[in-house]
Amino acid sequence: MAKKPAQAKESPEIVADRLRRMKWWTEARFGMFVHFGLYSQLGRHEWVMNRERIPVKEYEKLARTFNPRPGSPREWARLAKKAGMKYMVMTTKHHEGFCLWDSKQTDYNAVKRGPHRDIVAEYVAACREFGLKCGFYYSLMDWHHPDGHRCVKDEKARRRFCDYTYGLVQELMSNYGKIDILWYDVSWPLQSPEKWESAKLNTMARRLQPDILINDRSQLPEDFGTPEEHISAAQAGRSWEACMTFNGSWGWRPTPPEDSHSARKVVTMLQQVTSGQGNLLLNIGPKPDGSVPPEAIERLTTVGKWTAKYGDVIYGKVDRPEGLEGWAGCGTWTRKGKDCFFWVFNWPGETLAIGGLRTKVKSVQLLPEGQSLRFKQEPRRLLVKGLPKACPDKAVQIPILKINFAGKGRQVLSAGVCDGF
Ligand code: GLC
Repeated sequence: MAKKPAQAKESPEIVADRLRRMKWWTEARFGMFVHFGLYSQLGRHEWVMNRERIPVKEYEKLARTFNPRPGSPREWARLAKKAGMKYMVMTTKHHEGFCLWDSKQTDYNAVKRGPHRDIVAEYVAACREFGLKCGFYYSLMDWHHPDGHRCVKDEKARRRFCDYTYGLVQELMSNYGKIDILWYDVSWPLQSPEKWESAKLNTMARRLQPDILINDRSQLPEDFGTPEEHISAAQAGRSWEACMTFNGSWGWRPTPPEDSHSARKVVTMLQQVTSGQGNLLLNIGPKPDGSVPPEAIERLTTVGKWTAKYGDVIYGKVDRPEGLEGWAGCGTWTRKGKDCFFWVFNWPGETLAIGGLRTKVKSVQLLPEGQSLRFKQEPRRLLVKGLPKACPDKAVQIPILKINFAGKGRQVLSAGVCDGF
């Protein structure tokens, strides 16, 4: 993980180039993570090989039976599009070491074994067909390659393993046309970017893919931070993307339906990332045959109904709602320039109150249509009137009001209720 801010000692040219490359990404907000590999067949988490100490030779047999239905990546991409996601990131090689593409570095891959098809090629084609940006997850850690752990103690093994890593990443960056994101993961066991030769790796990736975005998991900060299973904004100026599982496991694991995030929960995550100028990369773990678990289909379809109505609030350039309270009663805020958005998590009925606003309100509108609402601004609260009795968002019960202030909106809510506080 990044220890220092990315821009610490970067030249203005590098910073400007990053802004250019990252434009689409900072506006995309919502992406789909896909964890798919041999482990998907077992349904016991993608760390199953390690956690259950399955011997390499025994685990390798899973490659024979791995046979996702052709067209599975199209199902993922179709669902991502429907949910309002703008990009995808798929595990081309997870910690298990099995490559989902036609590698020349190893025959432990999906073309030489199992389905005898290039799953990465199918995935890239699916992203393109549905107009989604295309990202490659790549695990540096490798439990299958004999040098994958030896490399920490044996310099010759390190040399071989770095060359192997370089070769694999080079194939990924060379053979599939334009790739938008290189998403590294777990850099165990080598302890430094020098040992991994990360700078060399990333220079090669950028030479082959000049627009590519690279995450912070090759032990270099690169373009964006990757909080995992929590949504915490990076400091302003640093891009970040929260990656979240749907049900506590990245790889497929059958769980009771209530273990999967509800559509409403996903929308609350979208509020959190939007207010912090970050992205949400939400995972699906396809089943062994490549199909998407029904809970994810159902919930993402509902999320899609919401993004179809309120998407303008999350996509595009957003700002942090500084000066406005994170916990403001029945809802909370996001912002885009002069427009402030109040996401109503608990619909109060015909009148809605927001306390502690210190700035004059110019207008209040109900999205998505934007009809103007009557309001009364008292010294200590804003009363919005004439709202529909029933919550107007039928998908997840999170409608949004657009509020314009005369100037930068400010809200002060202390624990006391006395006048002036
Ligand atoms: C972790 C896990 C891994 C998962 C990843 C996603 O680092 O090791 O299984 O792929 O997070 O962020």
